Amino acid sequence: MKTDDPRASAPVSMELDLKDVLASWRERFELAKDEIYLDGNSLGPMPNSVPAALETTLRSHWQNHLIRSWNDHGWIDLPITIGEKIAPLLGAAPGQVICTDSTSINLFKALHVAMQIQGWKGSILSEADNFPTDLYMAENLRAAAPEGSVVFDVVAHDDLIDAIDETVAVLLLSHVNFRTGALHDLADLTARAHRMGALVIWDLSHSAGVMRLDLDANQVDFAVGCGYKFLNGGPGAPGYIYVAQRHQNRARQPLWGWMGHAEPFEFSGRYEPAPGIKRYLTGTPAILSMVALDAALAIFEDLDLSVVRQKSMDLGDYLKDLIAESGLPLELLSPEDAETRGSQVSFTHEQAYGVVQAMIELGVIGDFRAPNIVRFGLNPLINSFQDIERAVAFLARVFERDLHLQARFDERKRVT
Ligand SMILES: Cc1ncc(COP(=O)(O)O)c(C=O)c1O
Repeated sequence: MKTDDPRASAPVSMELDLKDVLASWRERFELAKDEIYLDGNSLGPMPNSVPAALETTLRSHWQNHLIRSWNDHGWIDLPITIGEKIAPLLGAAPGQVICTDSTSINLFKALHVAMQIQGWKGSILSEADNFPTDLYMAENLRAAAPEGSVVFDVVAHDDLIDAIDETVAVLLLSHVNFRTGALHDLADLTARAHRMGALVIWDLSHSAGVMRLDLDANQVDFAVGCGYKFLNGGPGAPGYIYVAQRHQNRARQPLWGWMGHAEPFEFSGRYEPAPGIKRYLTGTPAILSMVALDAALAIFEDLDLSVVRQKSMDLGDYLKDLIAESGLPLELLSPEDAETRGSQVSFTHEQAYGVVQAMIELGVIGDFRAPNIVRFGLNPLINSFQDIERAVAFLARVFERDLHLQARFDERKRVT
């Protein structure tokens, strides 16, 4: 911050970077050298294993081998093979995760199945501040069910524990809050819900890939998540669903597509669900997106997620402390304590949209969340401590020069 160019060397952070055991991981991604990318929680960067995998699929498999590739190049098995690569990131034994559809759709399946298991008795409980698609899907289930048969309640974050009582059939929560970054205690809330007789669905979109998860050990019932955030699967990458073995055959998921049939190529006129996790499939998998995600997951092969989590917490602390020390007019929205924060740090500011846009023009990519949130996602595999120090220096520049107040930021782009 002492020189005029925030990209100039930053000694304190340089020392931290020298001790960083994940420092070399950035080389495994296609990223411009100077890019300060603090948005891996929205769209992960592209691992350098991805273009070649797509090129092979396009030029060799699709172009030359055509439909034979469904068998010969394992296309038909990709939902399972990718699910098995995601499983260790979730702390799940084999046979419980499948890669398919989007998080929204998988949520609907999980909600429906959980309510079937509960005999459609009791309510669905969520947090008022949950990601909108989670709320819409629960509301959608309520609206589609016969009048009055499904009750959907939401409560504020602070009222959650007390609201988990015997009237709750299904607890639906995001592990990390997309606005504040607050991290729920998955073990504790799952155990409490179970004591009350409820089943639990976790949306892991913002936690899978940046921290250790232990779904089996905590006896989680269902979980879903996105492939395009910290799993780096590319724009619109398919999501995944985890269904604990003990629940898999207890109900039929609500979207009876042919890919979830026990024998899809018998083309039977009657739906007979496949046994196990395969019944959570619906239609034909999007192979190009799946190939990208499959290749991206190689990043995690020799990675210790506890090390990733530690760096994520350190980066977050560094960012929040630097901003506090520099007296910038940004109010911390995320928890102070790294243990209760996911891999993002959010702040509020009246002109948050302008702040984010001005930063993007300076080469620091974060995102804006309405109405007033400046959100910085931290990906320990690509972000250095120097990135953080430089980002804060750029923020200082934005405020010194009132760059966030420029009239062109009055109009918001469609994607913020
Ligand atoms: C917590 C959470 N759930 C779900 C989604 C989106 O789901 P989908 O991939 O179906 O659009 C997001 C997107 O940012 C999210 O943050």
